[in-house]
Order: sequence, then structure tokens, then C-alpha cells
Amino acid sequence: MTMMAKIKETVVFLQKQGVENVDFGLILGSGLGELADEISNPVVIDYADIPNWGKSTVAGHAGKLVYGTLSGKKVLALQGRFHFYEGNPLDVVTFPVRVMAELDATGIVVTNAAGGVTHGPGTLMLINDHINFTGQNPLIGENLAAYGPRFPDMSSAYDKAYQATAKLVAARAGIDLQEGVYMGFTGPTYETPAEIRFAETIGADAVGMSTVPEVIIAVHSGLRVLGISAITNHAAGKQAELNHEEVVEVTTRIKETFKTLIKEILEEL
Ligand code: HPA
Repeated sequence: MTMMAKIKETVVFLQKQGVENVDFGLILGSGLGELADEISNPVVIDYADIPNWGKSTVAGHAGKLVYGTLSGKKVLALQGRFHFYEGNPLDVVTFPVRVMAELDATGIVVTNAAGGVTHGPGTLMLINDHINFTGQNPLIGENLAAYGPRFPDMSSAYDKAYQATAKLVAARAGIDLQEGVYMGFTGPTYETPAEIRFAETIGADAVGMSTVPEVIIAVHSGLRVLGISAITNHAAGKQAELNHEEVVEVTTRIKETFKTLIKEILEEL
């Protein structure tokens, strides 16, 4: 089946489940999926039931699609995303974004847990740009001209107006929102200290294993993007050792603030 046929098949399936107009897609990273529990009148669909959909394998990722109203907006939320390091091809990783675009979403809110290069654990960071260091690009292959151009312009991948709104909302709510550049690696290893020195030299503020492919597809499809990283640890070489338990623990600590921030931003988008 062609990519276009798959997208259409999935959209028809979701519409049959009650998914109608979508204002925003939400991609909720590790430990941040709880936000979807606050969606009112939810339609909850197991990933396993959705045609052409990937499988979520990481602990802390529920593997459910939740549609409904949040902060007065119609949202389609991914409780658990697909990662390249799980062995998913990038067209599977980014398929949900294609579906969000096909459902006429205006924009997406992408979130992740990330290691801090210039920011410390517990920080919420507004992503103002990214560095694709994965060596991959989800648009390699035939261009789907019906969705977007062969050579998408990444000059303003992270929407400037959304960034301004996020900063205003954070200031108003008394939430400390830092900003910076997210550098995407494939994982699943954490980076080496030398890689982090390199990352810092070339202008990265945070590092992680997701987000970049989804944002590329969003830009290609004309979706506006807001990105927020929850910094869960100092990146490699800046603290004694790294482990997933700390990532989960710090995410748990900041998720209430994170949820408040996203809800307040959504209200203003
Ligand atoms: N590196 C990459 N991904 C991450 C990190 C990190 O230090 N922390 C949380 N996700």
C-alpha cells in the first residue's frame, strides 16, 4: 500500500471511532503522557487496534491515542511515541504526524525528556531550534508532493508566534521556562562525554533521542510546531553517571508544572 493510502485508511478508521476535527496534535514524551488523562470526553484507542500504527515498547509509554477536548481545543494526543532506537523505521515513527496533518490539525505540541547541556535537571526548555544529528531524515525517498515540498525550509521549524505565546504564558503562570536548541541523537545509548562537549560547542542546549523526525514531517506537512523539553539530568560528563531511573524520577517531579504549562499554552494557541 502507498503511504498516502495508509494515511487515508488510518484517518477513516479514526473517524469511525469518533475522531473528528483536530486543532492540535500532542506528542507526549517519556513520563509525560499523564496530560492525556485530563482530556475531556475522551475517545481512547489502543495503538494495537489502529491500522498502519507502530507499537510502543518503552516503559513509561502507555501506547494509547486519546482524542477529546483540552483547554477548549480539540486535541489528538499520543500517549507514548515511537522511537527510531526501538527499531521502528522513520515512516512509522512519524506516521502519527502525517495523520494529524491529514486530520487538518493547525499545529503540534511535541514534548520529550532530554539531557541538559546548558540547563540543569528539573528545567522546562522551550525548543527554539534543533540539530539533526541522527544521520537520518524521514523525508529521504520519494517526495509526497501532495503533502509538502522536496526541500522543506527549516528556518522557522519551531513556530515563532507559538514560542512568544509560550513565554508569555509561562511568565504569567510564574513558571520558569528556559529556551534552547535540542540536538537529536538516535540512541539508545546515552551520549559520551566527548559527544556532549561537541554538542555544546556547536550550540546544543539539550540532547535527546526523539522529536527531530516528527518535527521534520510536521514542517513538511505545513504544521506549526511548539516543542518543550523536560530536562531530566545533566548530560554525560556533567554528572557522575546517567540512568533511566533518574530520568523517570525527575520527570515525575516536574510533570505537574509541565502539565499546567502545556494546558495554559493550549488555551492561548
Ligand atoms: N541523553 C539523551 N536522551 C535523554 C537524556 C540524555 O542525557 N536524558 C533523557 N533523555
